Amino acid sequence: MNVWITGASSGLGLHTAMAFAKAGHTVIAGARSFREEKRDGMYCFPLDVTNDASIRAFVEHAKQISGSVDCLVHCAGILMLGACEETTLEEYSKVMNTDFFGMVRMNQAVLPLMRAQGKGKIIMFSSINGLLGIPFQSAYTAAKHAVEGYAECLQMEVQDFGIQVCLVEPGDHRSGSEAYRGHTSGMKDDSVYGDLFRRGTGKIHHDEQNGSDPDRLGRRVVHASEKKHMPFRLRVASPDQHLAVLLHDILPPFLNHRILSSYYFGKKEKSDG
Ligand SMILES: NC(=O)c1ccc[n+]([C@@H]2O[C@H](COP(=O)([O-])OP(=O)(O)OC[C@H]3O[C@@H](n4cnc5c(N)ncnc54)[C@H](OP(=O)(O)O)[C@@H]3O)[C@@H](O)[C@H]2O)c1
Repeated sequence: MNVWITGASSGLGLHTAMAFAKAGHTVIAGARSFREEKRDGMYCFPLDVTNDASIRAFVEHAKQISGSVDCLVHCAGILMLGACEETTLEEYSKVMNTDFFGMVRMNQAVLPLMRAQGKGKIIMFSSINGLLGIPFQSAYTAAKHAVEGYAECLQMEVQDFGIQVCLVEPGDHRSGSEAYRGHTSGMKDDSVYGDLFRRGTGKIHHDEQNGSDPDRLGRRVVHASEKKHMPFRLRVASPDQHLAVLLHDILPPFLNHRILSSYYFGKKEKSDG
């Protein structure tokens, strides 16, 4: 297959791109930090998914190398940690612009090619955060929820053109770079959310550092893409993350919030008074 993949310079995007290359597929990989070169069995090109001109240039390069696009894989993403009250609208926009509108832009550039071919596969990296909220990740969670809803609409619209859509929903994996996990500018040392933020993000970092194997995820994405009929959802998560999604769907919200809050914040420290 000719596979075009975004966000392939780091983390799960890199591991997935390398898994496609190892499986013998032609991989055209994009990221802002790439320069034009062939390495690790992939054709690398600069790509900024927030910039239309950059997307057009990437598509032209990719067409010259591969002629067609059998599979488009969206991995580009950034994360912003901070309280809802203190995250600026610019910071929300930045995350939405990369994590959601980046996918929309890429799809609008590639769908005409896939329709002309009469086939194509689109794999969109969502997250467990696309299914439930986690404290201090509201921008990212909102963007991934947008991806989930968008993908359902897209699948119904394009299926008659032979195009399939798959949402990859990873739980925590070891691989993501700190470079893409910003803190909101509004989070000052004396923030009223400071204590909760430190406890919550401490747990988030711990879970990522002890997360699942990114190579295994890459292989599972390749395997799903090679099927005649891709699954619409591919959830790759630990048993407790699968359970968290299940409980989120069946428990009353107050109970679910209590469980997640106690998981992320632990016990409240006793005050001196
Ligand atoms: N790691 C996890 O545990 C985990 C869990 C759930 C979901 N995910 C999802 O998996 C994907 C990869 O995340 P990660 O944490 O594994 O990787 P990461 O280390 O955070 O890497 C992010 C990638 O996105 C690229 N990127 C950022 N902004 C971009 C832009 N404007 N245009 C093009 N590329 C851009 C970066 O490359 P450049 O800076 O070179 O552009 C980099 O390759 C994301 O969609 C993320 O939401 C990850």
